[in-house]
Amino acid sequence: MKKYIVEGGNPLFGEVHISGAKNAAVAIIPAALMVDGVCRIENIPQISDVSLLLSILQDLGAHIRSINKNTVEIDARAIRNSQVPYDSARRCRASYYMIGSLLGRFGFADVALPGGCDFGGTRPIDQHLKGFKALGAEVEVQGGFIKATATKGRLSGANIFFDKVSVGATINIMLSAALSEGLTVLENVAKEPHIVDVANFLNSMGADIKGAGTDVIKIRGVDSLHGGTYSIIPDQIEAGTYMAALAACGGQIKVCNIIPKHMDCITAKLLEMGVEVEEIDDSLLVRRIGPLGKANIKTMPYPGFPTDMQPQFAAALCVAQGTSIITESVWSSRFRYADEFKRMGAQIQVNENLAIIEGVDHLTGAQLQACDLRAGAAMIIAALSAYGRSEIIGVQYIERGYEDVIEKFRKLGASITAEEVADEEAALSAG
Ligand code: EPZ
Repeated sequence: MKKYIVEGGNPLFGEVHISGAKNAAVAIIPAALMVDGVCRIENIPQISDVSLLLSILQDLGAHIRSINKNTVEIDARAIRNSQVPYDSARRCRASYYMIGSLLGRFGFADVALPGGCDFGGTRPIDQHLKGFKALGAEVEVQGGFIKATATKGRLSGANIFFDKVSVGATINIMLSAALSEGLTVLENVAKEPHIVDVANFLNSMGADIKGAGTDVIKIRGVDSLHGGTYSIIPDQIEAGTYMAALAACGGQIKVCNIIPKHMDCITAKLLEMGVEVEEIDDSLLVRRIGPLGKANIKTMPYPGFPTDMQPQFAAALCVAQGTSIITESVWSSRFRYADEFKRMGAQIQVNENLAIIEGVDHLTGAQLQACDLRAGAAMIIAALSAYGRSEIIGVQYIERGYEDVIEKFRKLGASITAEEVADEEAALSAG
């Protein structure tokens, strides 16, 4: 077990280079098992969710070759087994993409129900199951497993209107429809950059998918996918996390290797808060010299303000001038971090999906426990802006989605180190 030690209260200065997008990578790796050839995937982030998914493919019989830290070759032609066991699936929510890819390739999938971040509330998959059934699969949920079988041996195209905008369901049905018979039309779909990235990956391997990133996605099933090379887009949320840290701490940083267009909703909110943002090619120069202003935030599906940026902005708004309101409209609740911030002196009141934050002059360091990926990142931000020393446990959540997070923050001048803790100390802190 590890903990992070942070000495906060200083501004940030320097450059941060953004890694490949976690939420694209965790879908593209399962998608690679549908390919009848070798997939070379570049700009893949070195994070634990990626390592876990690669090990799931390996356990199924795929050959994985690590070319370098951020490049991997996957050859899944030898896979014959369609079952993903519980002890693998439970550790990563994105394991549910194995259903779509196995069902698409073999006409059968037997995958344990996913785990992943528990930030309060349920994480249903009814829209995924609705899509599989519409494509001609029989689906049963039994003993913690989802068993899906294409009744005619191969899925058939269908028109599907999702009841709820869902990133996971949009991607999962796109995967299974890619190798189906005929035309599938998806409506009321998610439009995040990682949806487009998965569609672009599949198309580069021979799929026929049009409209990803718009309200309607059309997928014309093909008989097989061929190998190829694909580079994953930069991570919009990782980039936004460092921008939120700058907002909280002040200073000036350059966020490099991004797609500025993907950052529009985050940039707009920072400008509202008095942070300066300047676009320079594939980078953003972000600066805050004066006080941080308050803001109201309502999370929405893309291109709205991302729910995955909500905890990080809450950390910054704790030290803004004035009262801010955050409305979490994507998840039923996502404020479990609030109690941790209160221990640092934050004035934050939560009522169901609403948080009211009264900015204070500064937070003070404390012992903190991360409870999910983005809340963990938010705790680093709060600790960096706070006066004094903080210790953060539960950092395994953070390392699920942030590559080299310690090194990247240290390059921005942050005083942050990682220390091993004895399991019993961590367990005690876990309470
Ligand atoms: C993806 O989760 C992301 N995870 C989440 O990011 C992100 O918060 C979420 O999309 C929204 O952007 C990955 O991509 C691995 P959803 P997902 O299906 O696909 C409801 C992170 O921090 N819903 O878009 O599970 C659901 O309850 C993670 O990187 C149904 O009702 O989210 C929620 O209220 C955390 N039925 C809303 O839709 C379904 O079948 C959005 O969920 C599916 C979802």
